[in-house]
Amino acid sequence: MSDTARHKVTGQSEHMNDIIERMQADPGRRALLKGGLGLAALGFMGLQGCTSGDSASPALAPAPTPVTRPGALNFNAVAKTVADAIAVPPGYTATVLYRFGDPLNAATGAFSNLGTDTAASMDFRAGDNHDGIYFFGLSADGRFDPAESNRGLLVMNHEYMQWFFIHATPYSIDAAGNRTVEAEVRKEMAALGVSIVEVQRNGSAWSYNVNSAFNRRITTLTRMRMSGPAGGSAFMRTRFSTDGTATRGTFNNCANGFTPWGTYLTCEENWAFGFRRTAAGAARTAKENAGLTRYNIGATAAGNWGWATLPGDDFARWNIDLTGADATADYRNAPNTFGWVVEIDPFAPTSEPRKRTALGRFFHEGAWPSRPIPGSRLAWYMGCDARGEYIYKFVSDAAWNVADLNGGLAAGDKYLNAGKLYVARFNDNGTGTWLELSLGSNNITAANPSYAFADQADVLIHARLAADAAGATKMDRPEWGAVDPVNGQVYMTLTNSNAANRLVTGTPTGRAALTDAANPRVYNDPRTDNSAQRGNPNGHIIRWREAGDDPAATTFTWDIFLFGSRAGRDPNNINISGLDASNDFSSPDGLWFSSTTGILWIQTDDNAYTDVTNCMRLAALPGTVGDGSVKSITGTDATNATRTVTSPTGAAPGAARLRRFLVGPKDCEVTGITESHDGRALFVNIQHPGEETFDPARLFDVNVAYRNNATATGPTAILADPTRYTSHWPDGGNARPRAATIVITKNDGGLVGM
Ligand code: FEO
Ligand code: CA
Ligand code: CA
Ligand code: CA
Repeated sequence: MSDTARHKVTGQSEHMNDIIERMQADPGRRALLKGGLGLAALGFMGLQGCTSGDSASPALAPAPTPVTRPGALNFNAVAKTVADAIAVPPGYTATVLYRFGDPLNAATGAFSNLGTDTAASMDFRAGDNHDGIYFFGLSADGRFDPAESNRGLLVMNHEYMQWFFIHATPYSIDAAGNRTVEAEVRKEMAALGVSIVEVQRNGSAWSYNVNSAFNRRITTLTRMRMSGPAGGSAFMRTRFSTDGTATRGTFNNCANGFTPWGTYLTCEENWAFGFRRTAAGAARTAKENAGLTRYNIGATAAGNWGWATLPGDDFARWNIDLTGADATADYRNAPNTFGWVVEIDPFAPTSEPRKRTALGRFFHEGAWPSRPIPGSRLAWYMGCDARGEYIYKFVSDAAWNVADLNGGLAAGDKYLNAGKLYVARFNDNGTGTWLELSLGSNNITAANPSYAFADQADVLIHARLAADAAGATKMDRPEWGAVDPVNGQVYMTLTNSNAANRLVTGTPTGRAALTDAANPRVYNDPRTDNSAQRGNPNGHIIRWREAGDDPAATTFTWDIFLFGSRAGRDPNNINISGLDASNDFSSPDGLWFSSTTGILWIQTDDNAYTDVTNCMRLAALPGTVGDGSVKSITGTDATNATRTVTSPTGAAPGAARLRRFLVGPKDCEVTGITESHDGRALFVNIQHPGEETFDPARLFDVNVAYRNNATATGPTAILADPTRYTSHWPDGGNARPRAATIVITKNDGGLVGM
C-alpha cells in the first residue's frame, strides 16, 4: 500500500504511519527454477531427477546454477515522465492482460467499470488493486510444471480498493459513520483477497482463459484453516470457530511468496486497521492491551470502511468488543486470526487455504524462499512493513525433498508448520545475527517485564513483541525481498522513513530512533516547489549473505546495495550510489530476481519524487555483499542537528548495471512482478492508477459521514465528472482508471532486459 493509500485509509491529511507513531508516542490516545519461480537450479535439477525416476541422474549432482548474469544491461533507459501511460524501452511491448473486474467465467459478463456491477458478480471477477503475483507453469495434466512457459496460473493479491471508483456513486454512510447499504459492503469485501487465473501464450500474444476450471477468487469471506503451532490455541477462539482452528478470509494482501512444491503464499499486511473497537471494548487485561497496542489497535479503533457497522455475523466479525460471555461468543480474538502468511494451492480449486502460524504474525509484506537444495532445510525471508519494524526469517525443520513437488498443502504442513522463527539484528560493523523467537530464548519468557509470554503460540501471535524482547534492529519499512539465484544472497527493500522515525536529536516519537549503520540516512529531499521531505524519503535496499551460504545459518554479513535518490544530490551523504538521470528513483518496494537472466527488478511505490516522475521499474545487475566500501554518512534532521554513521555500502552500479526500464501511468504503484519460465514474458501489476483523483477534496473521512460532499470538491461531484479523473488508464477515453496486470515482451521474442 502506498503512503497515499495509507492517507486515504484514514481519510486524514497525514499518513497512516505518522498517525501510528503519534499514537505510540501518546499512550493516552491509544486507547528454478527459471520461469520466475526464483528457485535454485539445484532444486530444479533435483526435480528433474525425481520426475524422471532416475535417482542416478547427473542432474541430481550439486551443480552451479546455470544463471549467467550479463556484464551490462542492453536496453535504452526510459526517461522519467508524468504521462498517463506505460513507457517501456524501444523494442518492447507492454500489453494489458487482466484488469480489475474482468470476468473469471463465461457466465459473468463484461465489467461495466462504472460501479454498476453487482456484489455477487465480484466473486467471479478480478479483484481490485492487484499486488503480489506469481506465475506457476501448468502442465497438460493440470499440475505444477516449473519448466512450462506457454501455459500457467497467475496467482495474485488484491490489496485493497479504490474507494470511489468501485461503486456507481460514492458509497453510502450515515451521519454516525454507519454503512447503510449491505450490497456495497459485500462488493468491497469480495473485491479484496486473491485471484487465480489461467493464462496462455499463442504465438507472441498472451491472454487469459475465461473458461478455465482453475480460475478462482479467494476473498475476505473464504473459509481458512488456522494451522501450525498457534492454530487451535485459546487465542484463536471465536464465535465462527469455537475451537480456534478456522477463520474467514484473508485481507490486505500485499506482497507474496511461493514454495518449491508449487503453492502460493499470500501475506496479510495492513489487516489491523480493519478492526473496530469502541469504548465498550476497552475492558481487556493489561497483557491483552499490550498485544493489541503493539499491533496498532488502540483503546478505540474506528475500523476502516465501517464494515463492522452493519448487522450480521459477516460484519460483526470486524468488531472486537467484548459482546459475548467469552471468546467463543464474540470476535474479541478476531485480530489474532490475521497477520499471517497464507498458503493457497492454486492447482486444487476446492482446497481450503491454510494460515501458517509458524511464520509469525506481523504486518507481513511477503515471504520469499531460499534456493531449495535437496537435503537442506528451507528458509523464507519476510519483512514487517511499517516504519521501525523488523526483518524475519523462518527455517523449516524438514529438509527439502524433491519428491514433494506437487505435494500441495500436505507438503505445506510438512515444511511450514514446524521450524524456527528468527528476527534480524544488523550490527554496525557489517555483521548480523538471526535472533531466535522461541519461548525461553532471547528474553522471550513469562518473566519479560513488557509482555509475559505464555507459550509458543503467544510468541508467534505476538512476534513483534518477541522481536522487541530479542533486541532486533528497527528498519526503514521493509517491503519486498528477493533471493539471488546466482549466489543465494538476499535483498530487501527499505522503502522510506520519515523524520520522526530517524530523529537525530530530541525525543523520538516512533519506536525507531537515530540512524544506525543499516538505516544510515536522515536528510531533506526538497520537492520542486521547495517543500521539505525529511527522514529517509527515498529509501534504500539492504542485502545480506548467510554464513557459509547456508539459509539456516544464524549469522550473516550485510551491506547496503543501493540508495534511492534524485540525481544531483550530495554524492557523499544522499546520492551515495551515484544515480544519474537514467536510473534515479525513490522508494523501492517491489523486488524480484529473474532466475533466467539474473536481472534484479526493482519497482517503486513513491510519493517523494512524484513531482518529477510517476512510479517506475528498474533493472539492476548486482554484484555481491562486500563489493563496495565502508562509507561515512552524515545526516541532518529537521533541527539541523547532525549525526554521522559508517555503513558498508555496495559498489556504485553505474548506468551499465542500473537502468530505468518502465514508467507507469499517473498515481500508480508499479508492484507485483513475475516471469514465464523462459524469461520471455514479464507480468507486472499496475496498482491504483488515478489514486489522487479524490485528493483535492481531502474532505471526507471514511469512518464518518462525508464532509462537504455536496460541494464541488466532494467525491460525488468529482466522480460524476470524468475530466477530473487524474488517470484513465488502461481503458482510455473517459474511463475510470483501474488496476491491471500487464505482460511485457521483447518484440523479437528475446529475453526481457537482455
Ligand atoms: Fe502494501 Fe507493504 O505495501
Ligand atoms: Ca500501492
Ligand atoms: Ca509501499
Ligand atoms: Ca508493497
